[in-house]
Amino acid sequence: MRVDWALRIVALASLCAAPLSDARKIGKTELRERQHEAAKRFMPAAGPFLEKRASGWAGKNITFTNPKASEFFVDGTTIPEVDFDVGPSWSGLMPISGAANETRQLFFWFFPPGPTGSLDDLIFWTNGGPGCSSLEGLLQENGPFSWSVGTAKPIVNDFGWTNLSSLLFVEQPVGTGFSQGTPNITNEDELAAQVFGSLQQFLEVFSELKDKKFYLTGESYAGTYIPYIANYIFDHNESLALNLTGFWVSDPSLSWDVVQEQIPAVSFVHKYKNVFSFNQTFLAELDSKAASCNYADYFDKHVTYPPTGLLPLPGTSTEADRGCDLWDEIFNAALIVNPAFNIYRVFDTFPILWDVLGFPGSFEQIQLSPLYFDRTDVKKAIHAPLNVTWSECSNEDVFVRGDESLPPAFTVLPTVIEKSQRAVIVHGLADYILIAEGTRIVIQNMTWNGQQGFQTPIANDSFIVDGVGALGNMHQERGLTYFEVDLSGHMVPQYSPKAAFQIMEFLMGFRENP
Ligand SMILES: *[C@@H]1O[C@H](CO)[C@@H](O)[C@H](O)[C@H]1NC(C)=O
Ligand SMILES: *[C@@H]1O[C@H](CO)[C@@H](O)[C@H](O)[C@H]1NC(C)=O
Ligand SMILES: *[C@@H]1O[C@H](CO)[C@@H](O)[C@H](O)[C@H]1NC(C)=O
Ligand SMILES: *[C@@H]1O[C@H](CO)[C@@H](O)[C@H](O)[C@H]1NC(C)=O
Ligand SMILES: *[C@@H]1O[C@H](CO)[C@@H](O)[C@H](O)[C@H]1NC(C)=O
Ligand SMILES: *[C@@H]1O[C@H](CO)[C@@H](O)[C@H](O)[C@H]1NC(C)=O
Ligand SMILES: *[C@@H]1O[C@H](CO)[C@@H](O)[C@H](O)[C@H]1NC(C)=O
Ligand SMILES: *[C@@H]1O[C@H](CO)[C@@H](O)[C@H](O)[C@H]1NC(C)=O
Ligand SMILES: *[C@@H]1O[C@H](CO)[C@@H](O)[C@H](O)[C@H]1NC(C)=O
Ligand SMILES: *[C@@H]1O[C@H](CO)[C@@H](O)[C@H](O)[C@H]1NC(C)=O
Repeated sequence: MRVDWALRIVALASLCAAPLSDARKIGKTELRERQHEAAKRFMPAAGPFLEKRASGWAGKNITFTNPKASEFFVDGTTIPEVDFDVGPSWSGLMPISGAANETRQLFFWFFPPGPTGSLDDLIFWTNGGPGCSSLEGLLQENGPFSWSVGTAKPIVNDFGWTNLSSLLFVEQPVGTGFSQGTPNITNEDELAAQVFGSLQQFLEVFSELKDKKFYLTGESYAGTYIPYIANYIFDHNESLALNLTGFWVSDPSLSWDVVQEQIPAVSFVHKYKNVFSFNQTFLAELDSKAASCNYADYFDKHVTYPPTGLLPLPGTSTEADRGCDLWDEIFNAALIVNPAFNIYRVFDTFPILWDVLGFPGSFEQIQLSPLYFDRTDVKKAIHAPLNVTWSECSNEDVFVRGDESLPPAFTVLPTVIEKSQRAVIVHGLADYILIAEGTRIVIQNMTWNGQQGFQTPIANDSFIVDGVGALGNMHQERGLTYFEVDLSGHMVPQYSPKAAFQIMEFLMGFRENP
């Protein structure tokens, strides 16, 4: 009814040719009330899930008996620009082996659980790239405090994953962020060995964390890292004192680019037609190319529930056949219409917001110098090497000849789903760099726990977020749960923190239903 009234007022206003703002005057008090209501709905409600989580708390603080731990201690009142107490944490460089001549070290930052978090669990987070720093995740996605793109100062992150349990950020592989040593790996098993070795060394210093239930999480290219790291841990579980229980990959690189970028690109443009605002001629050209490249009818023809056989490539290439790189044509055209076009979240327009990490959207954008993690006072506070020029994504190749491993969907991903208690694949629906429809193709072409793909369709509006309602789609079969999150870009914990938090509660067994 109120909607009707509003419409009528607007209609009346345009009849009288009065400016719309005159017709829709809302008092500041009324606005503030609405904002307050919205915020209240969004805030976490204490319920059975919180209580279940808190039961692991056991009423004691984490203390580490190994005197070496104190060398890594970070006083939560001394983190530059943070004007509240973040609580105790530990950070610094950890070698990737116990060898006396070991030169390679990964940078980590460990946070114990907040008051509602469980003491029985440990979450590991990594960003992707390859070569992008996990401190991005810490500061802008799921850390206990956050300083996001466009905000004036650091704030408490109400959806920080320390509310769930202990949380460990690692900059890996060698060549990323503050890590030390010369990159020389060529594949994912060598990457996994670095992480594994560094975790072993970490548990020597922080031995109170041994035997925790362990969750591997990461986004983007970490969609490739995480399954390989999980596989390595399952294969070497006798030499790592952690109980790997599940994993999360969001907006993950799991398969060929032609699958996750090219096939779904034009269909994505149609879904967000008004956001791209392409002209009719260009749209028609895209449609005709999509047809001749076998992208246009790919979904209707091949993505069935259950699948009728293995899914074919649309052409002869795992990247794009000649004349079929539509993903790049769309990106270039989008930048003409909207030079602030953000491949990570397509809704962004001018102005480009400032970012203390220097990477607010499609491109690096240094609006202040030095970057937050490149400040000497920050480096000192967190035991980071002073002689490294930190950047969010490394300028050097962390794989010396590129990554020679096959995409995980063709190798280890099915196995690690089978060995996990729970596994989640998450995809933001407003992400263009990797497109959710492509991830559906990957899933339908993969065989795990004895069957290929999902057997029944992914129902629309089936992801229900507490206090919000339907916020996308969700489907589970045979130990794998897949989530698509409405309105979220590539970094789901950043763009849809509440949804991300709920998915983690499910992954960790703090709630039965996703
Ligand atoms: C944890 O340690 C702090 C500081 O020593 C103390 O104030 C707090 O009461 C402790 N919490 C618990 C649950 O023991
Ligand atoms: C350490 O020494 C061993 C044995 O000499 C050698 O194999 C290894 O490559 C060395 N490691 C580094 C990081 O230099
Ligand atoms: C996380 O913890 C903070 C501080 O204890 C609290 O304000 C917030 O509501 C919690 N958020 C969630 C999602 O549990
Ligand atoms: C990388 O270098 C280290 C240290 O020199 C060496 O031990 C290791 O075998 C090398 N790894 C590869 C994959 O070449
Ligand atoms: C390692 O994995 C094997 C096979 O799944 C299992 O039987 C064994 O209990 C595990 N060991 C540890 C220490 O977790
Ligand atoms: C690992 O955790 C699972 C799930 O809680 C449990 O069933 C299993 O016994 C644990 N394994 C080890 C070796 O602790
Ligand atoms: C589906 O999987 C098969 C077998 O692994 C592979 O040959 C084919 O290229 C895959 N199709 C797609 C679209 O990725
Ligand atoms: C339509 O869009 C295409 C692709 O960006 C561009 O090349 C062309 O100039 C545009 N035409 C008009 C009339 O704007
Ligand atoms: C930076 O300093 C560390 C010692 O703190 C040293 O081991 C390392 O080689 C130095 N790195 C560079 C690039 O100078
Ligand atoms: C979900 O909605 C889309 C778009 O309206 C439709 O094409 C599709 O068939 C629906 N899927 C299911 C399983 O109902």
